[in-house]
Amino acid sequence: MNTAALARYCVFGNPIGHSKSPAIHARFAEQTGEALIYEARLAPLDGFAESVGAFIAEGGLGANVTVPFKEEAYRLCSEHSDRARLAGAVNTLSFCGKVIRGDNTDGAGLVRDLTGNLNASLNGRRILLLGAGGAARGALGPLLEQRPELLVIANRTTEKAAALAAQFSAHGPVRGCGFADLAGNSFDIVINATAASLSGEVPPLPAGIFAADSLAYDMMYGKGDTPFMASARAQGVGKLADGLGMLVEQAAEAFFVWRGIRPQTAPVLSELRGELRAAQQRT
Ligand code: ATR
Repeated sequence: MNTAALARYCVFGNPIGHSKSPAIHARFAEQTGEALIYEARLAPLDGFAESVGAFIAEGGLGANVTVPFKEEAYRLCSEHSDRARLAGAVNTLSFCGKVIRGDNTDGAGLVRDLTGNLNASLNGRRILLLGAGGAARGALGPLLEQRPELLVIANRTTEKAAALAAQFSAHGPVRGCGFADLAGNSFDIVINATAASLSGEVPPLPAGIFAADSLAYDMMYGKGDTPFMASARAQGVGKLADGLGMLVEQAAEAFFVWRGIRPQTAPVLSELRGELRAAQQRT
């Protein structure tokens, strides 16, 4: 194959070695017949802008951005989509001449996973969002667009939750609080957007947060239950989901931004799920 003729995309991150994005976009390209290549690129922690510049000089048309560069990517862009502006972070770059356009597909990916793959209606529901960092912020606009009855942001550092809720108050019924303040409340959907799972921890939630039919959703994913999912399961929660679907859906949304075609996500998600299960059985 003459790869020089292919449209070029990549994902920047640090670390980036375990990224599933190249495999996901390769599946999308195959499925839609789009002639593109998509690679993973390690950007030095102090060299993100240079890495992007080099990729543009090589003819790159667009890129995804992952940890820890999403805020820096936002600052690098000369144009922003509304949802990128709301998130204050960019995970999808498009290069056109001298213009670098920034978008954010994370929140849309989360909502598509919840409503499309998991059949969870958000409209009129009580949603609890755990965490007030970049991951939570990116989810807020798209979640509120679904018109929940209430969205509560709970965070270890209460002030950050309160500040985030204040910033989004014009977009819907949103409140911020600390974990202990949740006592006496229950929610239809509880979304973990904290980084607690990374250290094997679970946000300290008061008992009774989960209703009988609640969905416990972790933005993280792994070979089996994440610590948050395991904790919810131990509390009797029957509906559990990790963030693998969100990963695939945000990628599909980025693919759509670049190519104007929406790939089918279900076969890609089930393939990745199969790979994770196989890896779990080997351990
Ligand atoms: P990200 O971009 O992934 O959201 P971040 O901006 O560093 O990363 O935010 C991490 C979030 O996880 C924060 O809400 C953080 O709480 P604080 O604001 O109090 O720091 C939360 N977090 C990290 N470790 C946690 C833990 N062990 N328990 C509860 N929350 C945790």
